[in-house]
Amino acid sequence: MAEEKDNALMEKIVSLCKRRGFVFQSSEIYGGFNGFWDYGPYGCRMKRAIENLWWHEMVETRDNVEGLDSTIICHPMVWKASGHVDQFSDLMTDCKDCKSRFRVDQMEDPTTCSNCGSKNLTEPREFNLMLQTYVGPVFDDEHKAYLRAETCQPIFVDFNQIRVASRQKLPFGIAQVGKSFRNEINPRNFTFRSREFTQMEMEFFCEEAQGMEFFEYWKEQRINYYKNKLKFKDDFFRIYVHEKLAHYAKAAIDIEVKFPFGWGELEGVHHRGTWDLSQHSKFSGQNLEYMDHDTGRKFMPTCIETSVGLDRTFLAVLANAYDEDKAATQKEGMDEDVRIVLHLPATIAPIQVAVLPLSKKLNENAEKLYKELNEHFRCEFDVTGSIGKRYRRQDEIGTPFCVTFDFESAADNAVTVRHRDSMEQERVSIDSLNKYLQDKINE
Ligand code: GAP
Repeated sequence: MAEEKDNALMEKIVSLCKRRGFVFQSSEIYGGFNGFWDYGPYGCRMKRAIENLWWHEMVETRDNVEGLDSTIICHPMVWKASGHVDQFSDLMTDCKDCKSRFRVDQMEDPTTCSNCGSKNLTEPREFNLMLQTYVGPVFDDEHKAYLRAETCQPIFVDFNQIRVASRQKLPFGIAQVGKSFRNEINPRNFTFRSREFTQMEMEFFCEEAQGMEFFEYWKEQRINYYKNKLKFKDDFFRIYVHEKLAHYAKAAIDIEVKFPFGWGELEGVHHRGTWDLSQHSKFSGQNLEYMDHDTGRKFMPTCIETSVGLDRTFLAVLANAYDEDKAATQKEGMDEDVRIVLHLPATIAPIQVAVLPLSKKLNENAEKLYKELNEHFRCEFDVTGSIGKRYRRQDEIGTPFCVTFDFESAADNAVTVRHRDSMEQERVSIDSLNKYLQDKINE
């Protein structure tokens, strides 16, 4: 993952996120808390929009995918059955000289400290990534519980409940979005590897004979989503085919993205066979087999998983969208050197429409228009600074449309719509503005 680093781009993205209130360190006034991040006003708008887009794509537009919203803390046996308690660990080593801590599989040379160059490292030892807590008043092993390490396990545990309640027949899927927690040894690369993060996972259940067909289907669906919905450029993502598979898996790919620090996994599409349901059947003593009522045959469903991090998607979207446009400043006669612009898809931009009155005298009418538009779009009303400065502020947060209310607007009942990417301006009548913007956003 060390190839093609662009540290400068990473710094710019981190700085923009902090400056404009997208993402910043959790508990910053206490010095921050490593591996935890807060999403500010623009950040949580965009994060929610990405989540909604995923949910719409994976659940709402499909008859055969149901949703789940499970608890973060489940019965501890869930994590015993899934293998997390015994096997969800990384090898770590410490530098005895500078006290840096490393995940062995991430070290370029596992015999040398990459911080100070010392060879004085501890023997690698296993470190379990599950975050623990206690449920009830006694803090002993009997009351130990875990914060979920992935959102998919409750899907397997609740499989029968959901199947019966929804009256779904195979093939069908169950999706969940929610927080997951991992005590990562070395959280790094901004939100890419955190200790608390959101996952968006879908488990699709089918007969064994259909497993590879659905694996290919979901792989294609997810690639198309990145191309068409998140507008990832062709050279921004690639497919990594796993050659070494988990013992129960039949096939696995990762969708990797060119993050500023190098290629990194964004999403996994994995053929998990019957492993998870079989494990939970074994540990719970409940039969999770599926009965085909047409043939009377009973069998354990095979599962295809699509699993992606919301925080990683957020970061990938920013990396794909970030641009510095030198020509733009001349075109709009601004005196700064470069225009910073996020070419975000309009569907997920934190602000979709900014309403900007050309003069304070126009504030009242413009604000009325803003309030109307705000019923339909994520809007912002900005009255401070020159119009050029206001355009730049909106470019920097990726607002696709700026609506300028000028001195003619009241008379001709029209406004100027300025497009973020081309900076072209169009006169649009206020009566058709809503539909005009709706069409452009859905384009
Ligand atoms: N259920 C399968 C599963 O959890 P994973 O590869 O461990 O597989 C899936 O995680 C996705 O969750 C990753 O591709 C990534 O997008 C996200 N993810 C995993 N660990 C993360 C972390 N520490 N910080 C942020 N995102 C993470």
